[in-house]
Amino acid sequence: MTATIIDGKARAAALKAQVAEEVARLGGLGVEPGLAVVLVGDDPASQVYVRSKGTACRTAGIQSFEHRISADVEARDLIGLIDRLNVDPAVSGILVQLPLPPHLDPHVILGAMDPAKDVDGFHVVNAGALATGRWGLVPCTPRGCLLLLQETLDDLAGREAIVIGRSNVVGKPMAQLLLRESCTVTVAHSRTRDLPEVVRRAEIVVAAAGRTGMIRGDWIRPGATVIDVGINRGDDGKLRGDVAFDEALDVAGAITPVPGGVGPMTIACLLENTVEAARRQHGLPDPA
Ligand code: GUN
Repeated sequence: MTATIIDGKARAAALKAQVAEEVARLGGLGVEPGLAVVLVGDDPASQVYVRSKGTACRTAGIQSFEHRISADVEARDLIGLIDRLNVDPAVSGILVQLPLPPHLDPHVILGAMDPAKDVDGFHVVNAGALATGRWGLVPCTPRGCLLLLQETLDDLAGREAIVIGRSNVVGKPMAQLLLRESCTVTVAHSRTRDLPEVVRRAEIVVAAAGRTGMIRGDWIRPGATVIDVGINRGDDGKLRGDVAFDEALDVAGAITPVPGGVGPMTIACLLENTVEAARRQHGLPDPA
């Protein structure tokens, strides 16, 4: 059996087109969504991410404001900037690119953001809303994974799902989203005993461990849907996921490639969150 390859690029392009249409509709109502991206320091990977977020915004008709700050900024000055963005009516969403330099505590910096503008969904208020089944902004990567699962599988309810990785950015919110869809969810991590055996039970595998090729083909249950969140750059400069793709291809029912799977969905969901934040700030209902 050869797995279906889940085309994240195509799904993301469709979502971006939908966002652009919604931006145009909101424009007619006098609402102009805008995203402020804050980059502290000059980490090359972060610079690439920030540039592509800006481009994606402008393509969808969303205003983009970039704030590049010196790596030695003091916490109070960075919080001062966030305070100004919190009250700026042109800014619907704020994103502080991670990782931050070591002298800045991400909990303190992210905590300074108005949760209604936290389009990454990292603020404790949004994390708490997701955990308790209330409205909030949902982290972009897990939301993108869920959209890919929903397009691949008819019904998620009752399915055995495993999330490998317990980060606040992917693993934990992913588990919450799958729980909300009534999956039976296992969260595995570096201390999990007999990981291959636990993975073998799952109809849905979301791999977010950050270790190239660690999930082997013979760990996968035949026919399972595999979502690979890993983006690891090898010595040859190529991007690879957390799943041994060529091995899994023979066993899985469907699998996301790296690149071209989850990655493009993250940015599309960021645009979606920015538009949703703008709508909420103007008291507008979600579109039908
Ligand atoms: N750094 C790597 N991924 C992300 C992300 O999704 N959001 C932010 N803010 N920083 C990141």
